[in-house]
Amino acid sequence: MSNRFDQFRTFLKATTGVALENDQWQAAEQRLAPLAGRLGLSVDDLIDRFLRHSDPKLSAAVIDAMMTNETFFFRDRKPFELFRDVILPRLLERKRDDRRLRIWSAACATGQEPYSLAMVLDEEARRFEGWTIEIVASDISASALESARGGLYNQFEVQRGLPVALLLRHFQRDLEKWRIAQHLRAQVQFQQVNLIDDFTRLGAFDVIFCRNVLMYFDQATRRSVLNRLARTLMPEGILMLGATEFTPGDCAFAPLPESPALLRRRKPKPEAPAGHLAIA
Ligand SMILES: C[S@@+](CC[C@H](N)C(=O)[O-])C[C@H]1O[C@@H](n2cnc3c(N)ncnc32)[C@H](O)[C@@H]1O
Repeated sequence: MSNRFDQFRTFLKATTGVALENDQWQAAEQRLAPLAGRLGLSVDDLIDRFLRHSDPKLSAAVIDAMMTNETFFFRDRKPFELFRDVILPRLLERKRDDRRLRIWSAACATGQEPYSLAMVLDEEARRFEGWTIEIVASDISASALESARGGLYNQFEVQRGLPVALLLRHFQRDLEKWRIAQHLRAQVQFQQVNLIDDFTRLGAFDVIFCRNVLMYFDQATRRSVLNRLARTLMPEGILMLGATEFTPGDCAFAPLPESPALLRRRKPKPEAPAGHLAIA
């Protein structure tokens, strides 16, 4: 393992939270090769250049190249069933006076996750008549967000997970591709957000989908992101993780009985009365 790899992964972890293992150097080189090619550089020269010079544009392009934007419509299906059958009925009941819902897809990649949520909400629209529903979708990757905002998907992408009936209802043909309908596109606000930075400016949410991103972080970063997500959730709010992601036992969330990936905030421990010494 080279010193250059060590410097590179220190940079990547510090800027994105993504932790590369010792054996991932070759994989990193393969990801950087197309960018290096476009700039007329070898991968070594590319890394040298951006490690030596502080060039925000180059750093952003390197970060973009290193992200795994893999996603598809209704990924794993179950989370969207839980959204429809468990989360929405709870919120319908608990927020019936306020009639406002805020939902955040916190690592949305190319947009399939927030658009899938928008399609579920569209199906449930009659139950939410008169409600204000906001979907915020964010990612660190500028190129993924650009695709997400465009809402244009190729045949392969719409064949992964999207039922034909929903394709025909919510997409229009656009030459060889499919474009998401404007009413769904308009429901999602896309923003660039790095989860390792402060994200309190986004405000509080009733539901956060943060799926298949924490698995790229080490334990300490995961815990820090989870604790800050907890503070961004409304008291009755719900967090949905990816199918293989679990929270460390001592974090701010506890699983709901319906699924280990479905979490609510733990109730804060009562504070010791003044003058008493709390013994952990
Ligand atoms: C595998 S995709 C998951 C997409 C979607 N949530 C899903 O489950 O299908 C992981 C996404 O996390 C994003 N990501 C990685 N590190 C991030 C960070 N520090 N802040 C925000 N997004 C990040 C990547 O750009 C990528 O789009």
